[in-house]
Amino acid sequence: ALVTTTEMFRKALNSDYAVGAFNVNNMEIIQGIVDAAQQENAPLILQVSAGARKYAKPVYLVKLVEAAIEDTGVDVALHLDHGADFDICKSCVDGGFTSVMYDGSKHPFEENIRITRQVVEYAHAHGVVVEAELGKLAGVEDAVHVNEREATFTVPEEAAEFVEKTGVDSLAVAIGTSHGAYKFKGTPYLDFERLKKIHALIPDTPLVLHGSSSVPQEFVELCNKYGGEVPGAQGVPEDMITEAVKHGVCKVNIDTDLRLAMTAEIRRVFHENPAEFDPRKYLGPGRDAIQKMVAHKMRDVLKCSNQ
Ligand code: G3H
Ligand code: 13P
Ligand code: NA
Ligand code: ZN
Repeated sequence: ALVTTTEMFRKALNSDYAVGAFNVNNMEIIQGIVDAAQQENAPLILQVSAGARKYAKPVYLVKLVEAAIEDTGVDVALHLDHGADFDICKSCVDGGFTSVMYDGSKHPFEENIRITRQVVEYAHAHGVVVEAELGKLAGVEDAVHVNEREATFTVPEEAAEFVEKTGVDSLAVAIGTSHGAYKFKGTPYLDFERLKKIHALIPDTPLVLHGSSSVPQEFVELCNKYGGEVPGAQGVPEDMITEAVKHGVCKVNIDTDLRLAMTAEIRRVFHENPAEFDPRKYLGPGRDAIQKMVAHKMRDVLKCSNQ
């Protein structure tokens, strides 16, 4: 069934695992992820960005997710990723999503509180849960120095005030992760002391980690070997994610690793079968690659198989 994250997070909060939230853009990606969740008997969040919604048209992804649920019987929370304003959050609440993120992290603290509060009121009145974000996810392009990145990290005391004033259901925090395939220039680093402090101050609030792809070098190398160009890509080491889920992190966002897995496989098929032009012959293997990657994340990194 289509479910909210309430029960998933209640179970994950004081356990050493987290629920994976995977970004979806088309049928093959949805099928690969949902089949992995069925195979692993794992809780699942499928998330849709504004860009995905625009690419597929809003109605398609909802209908495809409904079809995947009907096909497999898997429980899925359908979540809006990075809603930029009240209107897109409202539109997703009205359109059948069970969870929305309002991302006001670019706004000043009080403005972020004000709009988050507005989204919470509307969503809760319709049985939908809300994720918000405090702190900024700076990647290598945004900040050259570690100190510069740290200045954007979530302030624990502000997190407590924010949750208290907004009534939000979960909170995305900035502790060193960032979006995309280029997260660190040198040695990867997450601020676990900060995470523990936040969790201690708001122990009942499920925390969310965006930018949690690990950019496995094996897939970077496959992409590069078959004609791609992703030099120097680096993600969050998987053991750091496994550590984070022990300290209040209940939702872990992964998109880049799925993109890499699918693209590496499609590149391989094209390279080895240059005469092939039936889309099913490369989208099918691409779908299988997604399923394998997601099952690995659930089993080996998030530890949520059979939860
Ligand atoms: O946080 C961003 C997600 O990876 C979605 O990316 O906006 O390109 O769909 P997108
Ligand atoms: P990655 O780019 O690390 O996969 O992060 C995805 C994300 O945070 C989506 O909201
Ligand atoms: Na957890
Ligand atoms: Zn994100």
